[in-house]
Amino acid sequence: MDTPQQHEDVISPPPPPQAKWWVDGQRIRHKGFWFKPEFITATEAIRAHYTPLPSDIILASFPKTGTTWLKALTSSILRHSSTIHNNHDHMDNLNPHELVPFLEIELFGETPSKDITKITSPRVFNTHLPLSFLPDTLKTSGSKVIYITRHPADTFVSLWHLYNNKFGTEISIQEAFDDFCKGLVPAGPYFDHVLEFWEARDQDRVLFVTYEDLKGKPEENVKRIADFLGCETMVEKVVEECSFENLRNASKERGEGVHWSGTKYDMFFRKGVVGDWKNHLTQEMMKELEDIADMKWSGSGLDL
Ligand code: A3P
Repeated sequence: MDTPQQHEDVISPPPPPQAKWWVDGQRIRHKGFWFKPEFITATEAIRAHYTPLPSDIILASFPKTGTTWLKALTSSILRHSSTIHNNHDHMDNLNPHELVPFLEIELFGETPSKDITKITSPRVFNTHLPLSFLPDTLKTSGSKVIYITRHPADTFVSLWHLYNNKFGTEISIQEAFDDFCKGLVPAGPYFDHVLEFWEARDQDRVLFVTYEDLKGKPEENVKRIADFLGCETMVEKVVEECSFENLRNASKERGEGVHWSGTKYDMFFRKGVVGDWKNHLTQEMMKELEDIADMKWSGSGLDL
């Protein structure tokens, strides 16, 4: 398991460690996390040029933990809000990924497709970057951060399917799982990513939400998100509008093509259940994840 090397590239930078990862090309390690080189460049651009506003809402996540769902929920919460004025687009017309742009792609990526200054308040952005990559001013800006996470076993299984779908099965599930455990996945190590946001959780500033809680008690958790954003909304309507079936059907009806990452939009709606890992992983694999969680999260209060 990789230990995060704090700020290894700040003082007299050695060449960053590199790895060939799974199926999707080269990765470099930056401050302990593995990313494609272009995301490190985007991180620098974000830190240099993004000034968080008090009304900004940042949706943060590790890939495959429910990002698309959280984007849909937040847009719907705002659109049905009686207390926050906004003109969020309707999800019937757009995929959640088009409603909420990624900081490191559409806004500050290599070829930005959106102008941040033209987005009206409250601005809602998304990121897969770890908290330590985001501008330090985020802490004092008054912006709200919502982090969604999911059990690592289901996260891995979802990632495994996505990559098989995109690139074909190039390695065994055991090899892919070993890479996941070593942290050699986009934005990995998963356990460090989650821990950063967990440790920063704060009643006013950083809300920590789990995929499992949202599935188990959707109304309660949508209300929690709305309260955190300081807004009254139509909770039942939001839950219904953003159900897995509704989002998937809407995506199919729109006949959506390829997303920025080369992924077909409808691949973001696969099964949408808790516990699919049981169909793919062994008990030994689960034990390995538990052991890593015990080691990495020891004393944090965070548990699987
Ligand atoms: P599965 O592959 O387990 O089905 P992300 O958006 O971070 O890429 O996460 C994708 C995962 O969230 C996929 O999990 C997808 O099916 C699931 N998902 C997407 N929309 C959902 C919804 N409305 N309700 C529940 N799960 C959803």
